[in-house]
Amino acid sequence: MPVNKHYKKITTHTLLEMKQKGEKIAMLTAYDYTMAKIIDHAGIDVILVGDSASNVMAGHETTLPITLDQMIYHASSVIRAISRALVVVDLPFGAYQANSKEALNSAIRIMKESGAHAVKLEGGKEIKESIERILTAGIPVMGHLGLTPQSIYKFGTYAVRAQEKDEAAQLLENARLLEEYGCFALVLEKIPAALATKVAKTVKIPVIGIGAGGGVDGQVLVTHDMLGMTQEFSPRFLRRYLNLFDSMSMAFKSYIKDVKSKDFPNKKEQY
Ligand code: KIV
Repeated sequence: MPVNKHYKKITTHTLLEMKQKGEKIAMLTAYDYTMAKIIDHAGIDVILVGDSASNVMAGHETTLPITLDQMIYHASSVIRAISRALVVVDLPFGAYQANSKEALNSAIRIMKESGAHAVKLEGGKEIKESIERILTAGIPVMGHLGLTPQSIYKFGTYAVRAQEKDEAAQLLENARLLEEYGCFALVLEKIPAALATKVAKTVKIPVIGIGAGGGVDGQVLVTHDMLGMTQEFSPRFLRRYLNLFDSMSMAFKSYIKDVKSKDFPNKKEQY
């Protein structure tokens, strides 16, 4: 389906409308101005300033080290680039788990200092108070269930979540609760497709999947993964649209060769 030009600016309400009409929602991550500009120009619906910036931009093994200040820096760079997409920013690990007051203060800093449109938090009923308090301040909240990378040391592995009956039932219940608390949408990461489909059919808010199959209301991928800039990460759900690692390597090698051979710059490339 081509980009729906009818939507000039995407809001949380647009996403709900899209779900109601059966139009799939496309979401990608961005952490900087240039990438966000290209993604927004292509017609993406939602840009996620994910805490995956911790891995992708900073080279950390997990999402845990990234700070609130760093997330605000990334988010404000993205915001300066966009004209259409809804921009959602992850509350990083340590910025909301202590209590709801801390969660609200972190969310306010993100909204005020970056100009973002919404925040995303990982978790279910254990973060009820934080979600409700953030919403009271008028800040839209996106939920995130399934594989929640900020809890990687609790899980011990990045394997598919909610394969067992108990965990699946708990996830479905948490999805219902997130809707009840007032979340405008929900990310489901790396869970069985059948369960994700059931969640999307159960709740009225849009459900956006990553490794959750095609029965949900939209899809999200980490941009650097789908562009093939990262090589070491190859889960089954990842579709690579380019192999930028190889293309960029070739360009860099050509440049190095041209500099070394004194081919660059030539007479036309100087003043
Ligand atoms: O941080 C991130 O990029 C995310 C997506 C994988 C959903 O949370």
